[in-house]
Amino acid sequence: MVARSRKTKSLERIGISLDSTLLSMFDKLIAGQGYESRSEAIRDLVRQQLSREFAGDPKAEGVAVVVLVYDHHAANIAEKLIRLQHSHILHAISSLHVHLGAHDCLEIIVLRGRVGRINKMGESLVSMKGVRLGRINLVATETP
Ligand code: NI
Repeated sequence: MVARSRKTKSLERIGISLDSTLLSMFDKLIAGQGYESRSEAIRDLVRQQLSREFAGDPKAEGVAVVVLVYDHHAANIAEKLIRLQHSHILHAISSLHVHLGAHDCLEIIVLRGRVGRINKMGESLVSMKGVRLGRINLVATETP
């Protein structure tokens, strides 16, 4: 793998005023999460908020992890899931299948593409007949 050179970004320093109670709660929170500095924790908060904003834009680039639990005997669902992924080969980039028990299966499907497109595809997977539990975790990746 060839390492890509990234453009060096200029760093800006900012000052933030917080009351001492809020600051001590924040310090406790980020220490518990393993952050070594406030700057890193604040950068992540800003990125998360920007990512949330971008996730509302159907044209933004993103990835989605779709988690499905289903009974593989139900409604030819295993075959339908495979067919759907093959027909969206550019968006369905990976999947993991775990046999949970005699009947139950867990399928994790990773989608990549425009937020609007992959969200729609995730919804059609979750609403598929036979899916007992389904969840879409979508992250917009267009953040600096
Ligand atoms: Ni299975």
